[in-house]
Amino acid sequence: MSRSDFWNQAFDLNGRCALVTGGAAGIGHACATLLASRGARVALLDRNPEVAQIAAQLGERHLGIALDVRDKAAIEAAVDQVAKAFGRLDLLVNSAGIALLDKALDVHEEAWDSTLDINLKASFFVAQAVARHLRAGGGGRIVNLASQAAVIGLDRHVAYCASKAAVVGMTRVLAMEWAEFGITVNAVSPTIVETELGKKAWAGEVGERAKQLIPVGRFARPEEIAAAVLYLLSDAAAMITGENLVIDGGYSIQ
Ligand SMILES: NC(=O)c1ccc[n+]([C@@H]2O[C@H](COP(=O)([O-])OP(=O)(O)OC[C@H]3O[C@@H](n4cnc5c(N)ncnc54)[C@H](O)[C@@H]3O)[C@@H](O)[C@H]2O)c1
Repeated sequence: MSRSDFWNQAFDLNGRCALVTGGAAGIGHACATLLASRGARVALLDRNPEVAQIAAQLGERHLGIALDVRDKAAIEAAVDQVAKAFGRLDLLVNSAGIALLDKALDVHEEAWDSTLDINLKASFFVAQAVARHLRAGGGGRIVNLASQAAVIGLDRHVAYCASKAAVVGMTRVLAMEWAEFGITVNAVSPTIVETELGKKAWAGEVGERAKQLIPVGRFARPEEIAAAVLYLLSDAAAMITGENLVIDGGYSIQ
């Protein structure tokens, strides 16, 4: 293939099939929208009961399945359902996540468990279920949403930081074990992104203070995170695996 053919085709996702958890809102929805616009068929898995309608708004080729990613049996059934409906699976974005914030001395067991169950455990079991199909199909790409919280400490974020650091650790092992199957696995670690989750955690003065600590002087847009995810899911990124791409306007370089 010529250089220009390679570069022209690298970001074309026609014929590819993608699964996006947390695809009904925020970063997951931005990723699903971008992947669909590049030609992929996309399945959104989300606990939002309106996920099927949200998927239909992307076009009639797409699917939305309502489930809680903590339900391992429901995940396995949904992944099989999507693989059957689409005839194949190539790409996964693990974006479903929550942020329950409290001082470390006040964190309740329930909040700790929900955070680790959704952000970490569910990401693993979705990846495992999808990777079985990717291996059978000869390869694929996985991107896990981590966070700047994976690489720095943030006030009131103890469970969240622990979950996201673990996502980066998990990403490295999956990348090592699944490289031989043609599967790349990477993480992206945004700073505060303008989504419901970002607005809730960083409303008011605490957000203004955080913004002053970001060298570029603003929060990220979900579209910017989706663009990086598209790159990591593309043919152009075949040599990148086990990486954690920090997208933080310079927050963590100081
Ligand atoms: N927004 C930020 O500032 C920011 C920064 C860094 C990393 N992240 C990470 O990016 C990912 C997406 O965050 P966002 O800002 O788009 O959040 P969001 O709240 O806007 O959207 C999250 C989506 O996930 C779904 N979801 C949550 N829990 C679920 C569950 N148990 N089962 C199924 N679906 C579930 C929600 O219904 C929602 O549609 C998360 O993993 C988050 O930790 C967000």
